[in-house]
Amino acid sequence: MSRERFGSNRATIMALAGSAIGLGNIWRFPYMLGQNGGSAFIIIYIASILLLSLPIFLSEAVIGSSTRCNTFGAMKTLAPGSRWKYLGLLTVLTPLVLLSYYSVIGGWSVGYLAKSTVGGFQKDVSTFYTNFTSSPLKAILCHTIFLGTTSLIVLGGVKKGIERFNKISIPVLFFLIVGIAIYVATLPGASQGYAYMLKPDWSGVTAGTAAAAMGQGFFSLSLGVGTVLTYTSYMNKGGSIVRTGIWTAIFDLAFALIAGFAIMPAVFAAGIEPGAGPGLIFETLPYIFTQMSPLIGRILSIVFFFTILIAALTSSISMCEVGVAYLEQEKGISRKKAVALIFVCTWTLGIVCALAFGPLKDVKLMGLDIFSFLDYLTSNFLMSFGALLFVIFVGWKMKKETVRDCFLNKRLFHFFYFLIRYIAPLGIIVIFLTNL
Ligand code: PHE
Repeated sequence: MSRERFGSNRATIMALAGSAIGLGNIWRFPYMLGQNGGSAFIIIYIASILLLSLPIFLSEAVIGSSTRCNTFGAMKTLAPGSRWKYLGLLTVLTPLVLLSYYSVIGGWSVGYLAKSTVGGFQKDVSTFYTNFTSSPLKAILCHTIFLGTTSLIVLGGVKKGIERFNKISIPVLFFLIVGIAIYVATLPGASQGYAYMLKPDWSGVTAGTAAAAMGQGFFSLSLGVGTVLTYTSYMNKGGSIVRTGIWTAIFDLAFALIAGFAIMPAVFAAGIEPGAGPGLIFETLPYIFTQMSPLIGRILSIVFFFTILIAALTSSISMCEVGVAYLEQEKGISRKKAVALIFVCTWTLGIVCALAFGPLKDVKLMGLDIFSFLDYLTSNFLMSFGALLFVIFVGWKMKKETVRDCFLNKRLFHFFYFLIRYIAPLGIIVIFLTNL
């Protein structure tokens, strides 16, 4: 069966940037920056991208671009008859777990967008947040809409679905977030927000900072779960994996910084203590919108939740595509059936996650509710475990010549090969132990 490909190298970069830019950039990065020494953290973050994230990215890209297969097929091709195929299987399953709970939050952005459009937010935003997230009907409906949209885009195929959606969305996302950041800059008191994010404060940098930076780089660049592998398997011949990786990282970091410039100054202008996670987007920001003049608040909240929704969609389609590529290629079923099957599985698990904010609130696994447990399991363990195995495979198991052939620039090959073999595995183990 002939496989589709992206139409150009730019399209590959846009798709990977789309996967990278997501909720992680909006609700975690700005807060982390403020908590970990401001611009001092940016330097550490960039170093960790170069030394750790890029080598992992390139390992997945080497496997994807050299085999042009889904994760499972790629491992089977490169290491026939060995147990490495289970790594392929793991990276089919992890993004599906991720998709299930990501879709719940994506669904919230659907709900909030609808609310901003029809009614706007009233003063008591916290009650709205609690009522909305704990209502099984609303949460499940919104999750269904979000996952349904994700499935429809993936159904369109690599070129007409994923490529086209990302090519339009990435410029739109940047346009919108820059627009919000410019407006927010005019608010009185905004400057404290910039100071919070940027003031270099080396005393805020602790032993945990480097691990935090590495962990954030991981999640943000979508590493260790096979999305990079799958997308680079659709890369055009002659495309450079190093260039693709560097541009993806640049887009991702730029978006995270601008999102911070859009959010933190607004938070400070309203005189609120900044936080991270869902509360920042779904409680704090709507509250800030209610403090503005009704028209401006309304426009800003529509634009803001629309931006979050699109950013979440460009990520969720990449999670879905990993499974679809596997089912199509390995099981020989049509894209339509593959998407339907994945929809049913992730929809069901997503409902369980959605109910964790309401009726299933008290069901605990290792002291965490179901949603938090799955998030903890994937972002702290499954992703780093997948990444560790990818770098070990490329650095120690694959033939050096095969790896070298994937690099256009041989000097860069030597640099990154060293990082893949020695530095990346060590770094991942450090994050792993820190998380434990
Ligand atoms: N990078 C995405 C974000 O920042 C999340 C993601 C992880 C997407 C893994 C795909 C795979 O939100």
